[in-house]
Amino acid sequence: MAAPNTLGIDFGTSNSAAGVTVAGRPWLIDVEAGETTLPTAVFFDHGASSMRIGRDATQALIEGDEGRFMRALKSLLGTPLLREKRRIYKQEMDFIDIIARFLRALKTRAETATHQDFTHALSGRPVLFHSQDAARNAQAKIDLRDCYLRAGFADVQFMYEPEAALRATAPEAGLGLVVDIGGGTSDYTVFEQQGDGTTRVLISHGLRLGGTDFDRRLSIDHVMPLLGRGSAIRNSFGQGTLPAPNRIFNDLATWQMIPFLYSADTRRKARDLAQHAVEPAKLTRLVSVLEDELGHDVAFAVERGKILANQPDHPAPRIDLKVLERGLTVPLSSEALNRSLSDQVSEITDHATQALTLAEIAPPRINRIVLVGGSSLLDAIATDLRQLCPNARIYNANAMTAVADGLALASASAFA
Ligand SMILES: Nc1ncnc2c1ncn2[C@@H]1O[C@H](COP(=O)(O)OP(=O)(O)OP(=O)(O)O)[C@@H](O)[C@H]1O
Ligand SMILES: [Mg+2]
Repeated sequence: MAAPNTLGIDFGTSNSAAGVTVAGRPWLIDVEAGETTLPTAVFFDHGASSMRIGRDATQALIEGDEGRFMRALKSLLGTPLLREKRRIYKQEMDFIDIIARFLRALKTRAETATHQDFTHALSGRPVLFHSQDAARNAQAKIDLRDCYLRAGFADVQFMYEPEAALRATAPEAGLGLVVDIGGGTSDYTVFEQQGDGTTRVLISHGLRLGGTDFDRRLSIDHVMPLLGRGSAIRNSFGQGTLPAPNRIFNDLATWQMIPFLYSADTRRKARDLAQHAVEPAKLTRLVSVLEDELGHDVAFAVERGKILANQPDHPAPRIDLKVLERGLTVPLSSEALNRSLSDQVSEITDHATQALTLAEIAPPRINRIVLVGGSSLLDAIATDLRQLCPNARIYNANAMTAVADGLALASASAFA
């Protein structure tokens, strides 16, 4: 029996891609005009029943179109929020439906590009969707499978993302470590390879921590205080003040939680805080972010600030908050960036150490580190890994596409 037509899909927290093997090489489809990756973002037009995805969705947000934007949906897998039905404009939906629509759009685009039908999918998955909660981790896989089935695939197989990246890496004799630091998770594969390409995976290991968590930390440290986080609120009854409750600010700093804040109840709470605030100007900003639905604009501003601060020699890295107020910016030096992220970067390096310990490989024995994922571009991470494995050369040429390339390569035999 011929193997079914299988599409390799890297469904990422921040970016996604899809591909197949052509003449023995990975071939990623143009998921958008001239682009082989697209932001994992969706936008529901107010009034229309359509859903826009990728750069088109981001554009709708930037242009201030009426509608609902969502990003980092992968982070909801395994959580109870995923299966809650909600009304999104005219339709009753859960987040499985939304992710399924996104995957269906990738499927359709791949079918149009290749003139064939894809009945099956080979999907990447983090080694651990949830590294602190085994039940949620198991549920996340069930959830992602349901997303693929609802998208119209008859069946789906999963492959660990760092192992997919390894498939797309040129073989070289020795011991190696793949480190994939994406938007939502950090994933590790320790491997041993022969010169002829024979590869043995010694261990794969995972941590739920990635670039969206960096954005969250930076937002909490550098932006949320301007919206009133930590500022004093007068008691409605009696004397004295209390600090504003953290919950709203923490959710506003968390990509996947932003849409849940746009409710009448949260807006009422924010207005109440503003009314009793000792510094009402700050809390008034919070009220307008919630009323004008600017949470994602702020998150994008933080993400851009992070990338600027990570650029060597940028003259004036900053988080540009003009979307909130004309001229409002927060300077973000590379030192401030590293200070805010130092605990998280250490955690990522600690887990690289753990992966090597589990594989029973002493770090100096590693010849090669393959760095993958957008967050691996963070200078502090490469520096730490270099220290951990002093004899390793660092490869990062295909950081943004290695996982998708590997899935494309493995797709042909996934159901064979
Ligand atoms: N130059 C850069 N410096 C620091 N971070 C960056 C840079 N470029 C991109 N990023 C970050 O990389 C992350 C996205 O990386 P990537 O596309 O690999 O994630 P993903 O595959 O979607 O997520 P995951 O694999 O965790 O599900 C984002 O958090 C983004 O802000
Ligand atoms: Mg990824």
